[in-house]
This record gives sequence, structure tokens and C-alpha cells, in this order.
Amino acid sequence: MTKERRNRAWYGKQDRDGFIHRSWMKNQGFPDHAFDGRPVIGICNTWSELTPCNSGLRDLAEGVKRGVWEAGGFPVEFPVMSLGETQMKPTAMLFRNLLAMDVEESIRAYGMDGVVLLGGCDKTTPGQLMGAASVDLPTIVVSSGPMLNGKWQGKDIGSGTDVWKFSEAVRAGDMTLKDFMAAESGMSRSKGVCMTMGTASTMASLVEAMGMSLPTNAALPAVDARRMALAHMTGKRIVEMVEEELKLSDVMTRESFENAIMANAAVGGSTNAVVHLLAIAGRVGIDLTLDDFLLGSDIPLLVNCMPSGKYLMEDFCYAGGMPVVLKELGDRLRSARTVLGGDIKVYADEAECWNDDVIRPFDNPLKPAAGLKVLRGNLAPKGAIIKPSAASDHLLDHEGEAYVFETIEDLRANINRDDLPVTADTILVLKGCGPKGYPGMPEVGNMPIPSKLVKQGVRDMVRISDARMSGTAYGTVVLHVSPEAQAGGPLALVKTGDRIRMSVTEGTLDLLIPAEELAERQAAWTPEPPHYTRGYAKMYVDHVLQADQGADLDFLVGKDTRPVTRESH
Ligand code: FES
Ligand code: MG
Repeated sequence: MTKERRNRAWYGKQDRDGFIHRSWMKNQGFPDHAFDGRPVIGICNTWSELTPCNSGLRDLAEGVKRGVWEAGGFPVEFPVMSLGETQMKPTAMLFRNLLAMDVEESIRAYGMDGVVLLGGCDKTTPGQLMGAASVDLPTIVVSSGPMLNGKWQGKDIGSGTDVWKFSEAVRAGDMTLKDFMAAESGMSRSKGVCMTMGTASTMASLVEAMGMSLPTNAALPAVDARRMALAHMTGKRIVEMVEEELKLSDVMTRESFENAIMANAAVGGSTNAVVHLLAIAGRVGIDLTLDDFLLGSDIPLLVNCMPSGKYLMEDFCYAGGMPVVLKELGDRLRSARTVLGGDIKVYADEAECWNDDVIRPFDNPLKPAAGLKVLRGNLAPKGAIIKPSAASDHLLDHEGEAYVFETIEDLRANINRDDLPVTADTILVLKGCGPKGYPGMPEVGNMPIPSKLVKQGVRDMVRISDARMSGTAYGTVVLHVSPEAQAGGPLALVKTGDRIRMSVTEGTLDLLIPAEELAERQAAWTPEPPHYTRGYAKMYVDHVLQADQGADLDFLVGKDTRPVTRESH
């Protein structure tokens, strides 16, 4: 006999409480039989006009509902906080954990049996998965899908990646401001997420690699009719998942995280995947650490998309998308259950590649080893990361003098000074941009190259900070230095003129000063006063974990799957 469905504690009661739960819902025109015990499916929607990447999710919610009704379920759509990466200050990342709380508490408080997560823009996917994992109902993701390829002056242009290129070109005098402004409209010409392999498409790809969505969810363009069909099929499937009692934690296992780590290397995915996967794993109860990311380090770069390659997500879709990447991983791919119930290896086996320049075969990759590297040393005792596939080969093992920016304001005010004492060999250091410091760990780690060097033709330098960088960015950029400066990490103690040695080959990052001197500086150090003294941001600063632990709030790690027994009236 199957367990009584969760929704019966709301809609199955023959008393005053049941009357209250059903009657008010009926004001929307739902008939009696919607409450007859059929699976209630929550559709968790991050649609918002302030999150343009998610602006297609209202339509997709209708697609999911069709599938739920068809399969004999009862769909109920509900809004949660929406995180518009390009619109929120100081950074959408500050609010990822707030979205996760909103998702978790909404799922727990309402009478649903299964959930479909509708997200897309960078932080919405991890925030929703974190929240859902802490309740652990049957769960499937439907992503926004990427925008159509950007088009401008007859060429394809990519979200983010070409913004960084164009703004550098303007600073170098190679592009007019008029052209720069004109490129805006061509870059974002349909609904959907960034169509480069930025964080949004990375997370959607990893969701697919973890088996948490239907196959092809990651790459189908937002406006492709097949995405609406996928939403419909997801609605059908989630009802079956409730019947099969196939929970999120049955799909998100250690094996599926390992598949995600390898897939992240193969797609040339975002460095942001590290903090997000660590945080999600913490909710599911899987002990994932930075060192687990080494699993990806010898996986070659297969997907030829910006920022590591030249194509865009539309091309990736037409070439076959994620199923092809998973197939190319071959025996390395772990056996793991997907939301379809079967093994991920099965649908990987069925994949076919339609363009092997867009998705390279494993034995003819774009780069031989594409995974992220973890660096450790006296400058980053708990680790830092770098994405070698987006870096310059000649800088991967480098020693140089530090030039330090104490704050983001210091950087903005001085980076373009003609008398800035820097050369192409200088290592730029930025402090105060970690989870507690900024707060929220923004995407400012890919500091601009100082103008005076841009004019000399310098396009890349070693840059080190406790910040993140956009998944669409590139450069020899060391990120997520832990502990961060504001938490008293050694990064706080670096002074202009100190020598730093970074070796990506050896996985090291060291400040070349004597230990006694470092200890003296440590003793004299005091933190900056906090920028926020009330509200959510204060709670965040007081409780956020460091980047090597996923930057979740300490009290949100783990899950609570107990039923809520107390009634509201
Ligand atoms: Fe939303 Fe890139 S800004 S996906
Ligand atoms: Mg971003």
C-alpha cells in the first residue's frame, strides 16, 4: 500500500480545517475533484519583469499545468523571489540564500506532493534547488532556456562575453561608443538566459547532468516550441514521480554530483558552479568539498561555446545538447538515477551529435584538460579556484609584485590612472569582495586591465580576489580566495609591493613574505565596519559560510522533512 499523500493533511480533512483549505482554493474555480487525493503539484515560479532571463516562465508554467492535468494531477503555481542578475545591487548572490529560504518554506507550508522548479537566471537555479532539497519532495527543474544567438553587424555576439570584449575595445580606442551602444539591442533579442555558457546555462547543463530535468532541457532556446512541449512532458512526469515516491534525494546523489563536476569541465562551465554545487550538496547532506572538483581536472573541453570557445547555446542545442556531452563522457559517467526513474547512462547512450565542431568528440577536444583548478597556500589556506580554460597559458605559473586595491571603490577610482605603478607582470589584488565583505561575493573578480596597460596592448594579467566572476568572463583570474579578507583571511594582509607566486601546475598560491611578518600583520589587523546593520543583509553577514563551503547560511545547511502538524486556525 502506498503512503498517504502529503496533500491529504490539507485537502483530505473532513473537518473545519479541511473546509478552510479547500473552500478558499475553490474561489479560483477549481472543481471538487481537484481535491480528491490526486497529486498536488506546486509550480515554483521565479518569473519577473525584473529578471528578464526568466520572463518566459509564465508561458512555461502553462505548459507544465497542461501536463499535470493530463496525468491526473492538480497543478498550483506560486511565486517566489526572483533574482535578476543584471538588475540587482549590490549583487544577486547576496539574495540566493533568501530565495532558497523562500522556496523551502513555501514548499513546506503548502499542501503539495511534488514540485516543478521554474528558474533560469544564474542564482535562481541554485537557490531553488537548495530550498527544494531541504524539503525533499519529488522535484523536477524546467529552465528558462537561452536567448537566441545575439546578432549584430552580421555577426553572432554572445551575452556577457562580448560585453567584456566590447568595453575593453572602447577603452583601447578600437570601437566607437556609438557602436557599443548599438550592440545592446542585438545582443538580447529574445526572452531567455544568457546564450553563452555563462552561469545560467552552466547550471542548467549541470541540472541535466544530475538527472534533475528532462533530457535537452539545458540548451533548447527559450522561444523554441519544443521547450513548451518539454514543460508539458515535465508536468506529466512529476505526477508519476509522486506516484513512484521518487524524491529529490533519490536523484541528487554523490554520483550525480560527480557527473555534474565532470560535465562542468566538458562544457567549459562557470566557476560559479563550484559555490552553487557545494551549497546544494550541503542541503542534500552530501559531503562535497573543493577537492572533489579535481575529478573534472583531466576532463577535456568538448563544448565549443563562449567564453571558452566560439559558438553559442543555440548552436549547442542544434548539435544535440547535453545528452551528447554525457555520451562523450563514456565510462566516466557514473550510474545515477534521473527524474525519469532510469539510469542517466541510458539516455546518454541514445544521443546523437549533429555538429562535431560545436560538441567535440572526447578524443578531439578543444582543450585537453578543462576542469577548474583548486589553489592552496599561505594566501588561500582554505582554497581558491581558477578556470585554466579561460586563462592565458603564459600566466598559469607566474610570480610577480602585488598591486593591492583595498576596496572596490579604491579599484574604481584608481584603475585607469595613467601613473598607476603596474606592468604586465604585476598581480592585481582586490580585497573586501567575499561573502561577508561586499557583502554577497559579487562578480567583480575579473578586474579590468588598467587603461595604461590596455593602451600598451596588454589583454590579460593575473588577478586575485575573494570575489566571484561572471560565468561569461575570462582571464587569468584567481577567485573565491578563502577565508576572505573580511573574515580575517591572509588576503587581508597583502600589501602593494609584496611578491606573490601562483602555480596552476602545482596548485599553489603563496605570499612570499616571512611567516613572522605575516603573523605581525595578522595581529595588527582589524575588520572593516559592516556595511549593513539591519535586515536580511545583517543576518547574511552574521551567518554566511565561506566560499569553500558554498556560501550558504550556517543554519540552512541540511534538511528538515518532518510533516508540519500544527494548523493555522
Ligand atoms: Fe540572467 Fe545571464 S543575466 S542569465
Ligand atoms: Mg552572473
